[in-house]
Amino acid sequence: MAIASPLFSALVLATIALSAPTSMPSIESRDSPMIDPSTFAANSSFDVAAIYAAAIAANKTKVASYATTSTQDHFSTIYADWQHLEHVSVFHFMADMDIDCDGTDYDCAGNSGGDSETSFGALDARKVPWFVLPETLQKQEKDAVKDNALGAIICDGKMFYAIFGDQNGATPQVIGEGSLLLGHACFPKDRITGNNRHAQRDVAYLVFGNQPLKPTPDGSTIDISALKKLGDQQVKLLVQDLQL
Ligand SMILES: *[C@@H]1O[C@H](CO)[C@@H](O)[C@H](O)[C@H]1NC(C)=O
Ligand SMILES: *[C@@H]1O[C@H](CO)[C@@H](O)[C@H](O)[C@H]1NC(C)=O
Repeated sequence: MAIASPLFSALVLATIALSAPTSMPSIESRDSPMIDPSTFAANSSFDVAAIYAAAIAANKTKVASYATTSTQDHFSTIYADWQHLEHVSVFHFMADMDIDCDGTDYDCAGNSGGDSETSFGALDARKVPWFVLPETLQKQEKDAVKDNALGAIICDGKMFYAIFGDQNGATPQVIGEGSLLLGHACFPKDRITGNNRHAQRDVAYLVFGNQPLKPTPDGSTIDISALKKLGDQQVKLLVQDLQL
């Protein structure tokens, strides 16, 4: 545009200002607030403490073990005791919570060397509660753990729903990781950042491997109310199956 009249320039600026939030998703995502954790929290009628205790006690059928840190000083075991319940199929494990900002928010505070994509798209770590699983687990379990599968994450006495949004392909592959949003929802007082995790291995990850929830068409977000609905429905079935 070689010649621009003042009026034309004003119109262009006004148009840019009006369209900015949708036309510049990466900048918008970096500066946008995180969504409200109550939108993906489990129905308060569930006895979260009872589900947590049941998960810790269900430790007979081992699927795999992965280190919780790259120094490999502790291993977390994934169990399949609940894989063949009457109404639901669940893998579960206890671990810490490292923080994942890959995807559109890859330059979040503390995230050095972030990746602009997540394993099944480019999710926004401020808008999507997700958990991470080791890459080889999905290969080992084939169809039993689908991309974007539902998870119920029990942390600090609360339960939130999330999707399997990213894989860990590090050497060694580690387990126990959630998106920035999930970390903040679980541990709002812990000053969670891209490099400030929750180190205690007291988080229960319940993975409903055959219940995927696809991201919205732009690939960066999910339908949060659909996540909550699916989560409440599946946990209700789990509670029934376990007779809790
Ligand atoms: C929570 O679950 C109970 C029992 O199924 C149901 O009556 C109630 O409406 C649910 N509450 C919300 C906010 O969904
Ligand atoms: C496994 O769970 C049982 C209760 O079902 C418990 O007594 C035992 O300590 C647990 N074992 C391990 C290794 O956590």
